[in-house]
Amino acid sequence: MKKLLQSCLLLLMPLGVFASGGIELDSADIDLTDKASLENGAHLYVQYCLGCHSTKYIRYLNLADDFEVEQQEILDKVAPEGAGIYDKMLTAMNGHDAKKWFGVQPPDLSLIARSRGADWIYSYLKGFYIDPIRPLGVNNAIFPEVGMPNPLWKLQGNQKPVYKKIDGQEAITELVLEEPGTMNAEEFDKSVNDIVNFLVYAGEPAQLERQSMGKYVLFFILLFGVIAYLLKKEYWKDVH
Ligand code: HEC
Repeated sequence: MKKLLQSCLLLLMPLGVFASGGIELDSADIDLTDKASLENGAHLYVQYCLGCHSTKYIRYLNLADDFEVEQQEILDKVAPEGAGIYDKMLTAMNGHDAKKWFGVQPPDLSLIARSRGADWIYSYLKGFYIDPIRPLGVNNAIFPEVGMPNPLWKLQGNQKPVYKKIDGQEAITELVLEEPGTMNAEEFDKSVNDIVNFLVYAGEPAQLERQSMGKYVLFFILLFGVIAYLLKKEYWKDVH
């Protein structure tokens, strides 16, 4: 029994070390009513993520409907060349190759915002740093030893880590820009935020519709309440 307990504790240890130091999550600014942000997020997603990841529950047509723009605009500005408006947002990468190249298959991202949370994805996409020991030359402060290269390095530039000893362990406390990318920090944060906003939308596209339906539902309940009250008064009049 004691052995079992000890091994359980041992298993938990790396978790403890990771949680005790290091980098805290940054907050994403999620706003599903900001259609321009959602559209830009979808555009960046197709450009920088769709090469490896699908969002298989979404068709380009859904984007036009939900962002309230013309179908042609989605085809021109968001969808990859040659895609049709009824196509699903599928990656062209085949799973077998992906596994060979990255060691793992890039997961479908339809529900990632629900499982990881927006802040996690936001911090993760900003958390890559140069690490020559890793096979792809990069590592990630939020997802150590990740099998994904930094898809946004051209925009962001290259970061290097600052280490500090926390509880006797070296931990990354900060990432600093070593080599600038094509965007400044503010533009880059906004772009990453738009991608995350899009992924939150992708996790539950019905959310947009539900929000606008909410007020009709409330109105109906109120109206029904009044009618029910009047009816009750009418019936009880004869009983008394
Ligand atoms: C070159 C291929 C490639 C590109 C491009 C790419 N990814 Fe990935 N991604 C991967 C692989 C491989 C993994 C699995 C990593 C692992 O488990 O070690 C992954 C994992 C992830 C995860 C973590 C999933 C989990 O396990 O929770 C997220 C989130 C993610 N990617 C988002 C993105 C976003 C957003 C973009 C675009 C900005 C993107 N990826 C671009 C290959 C890619």
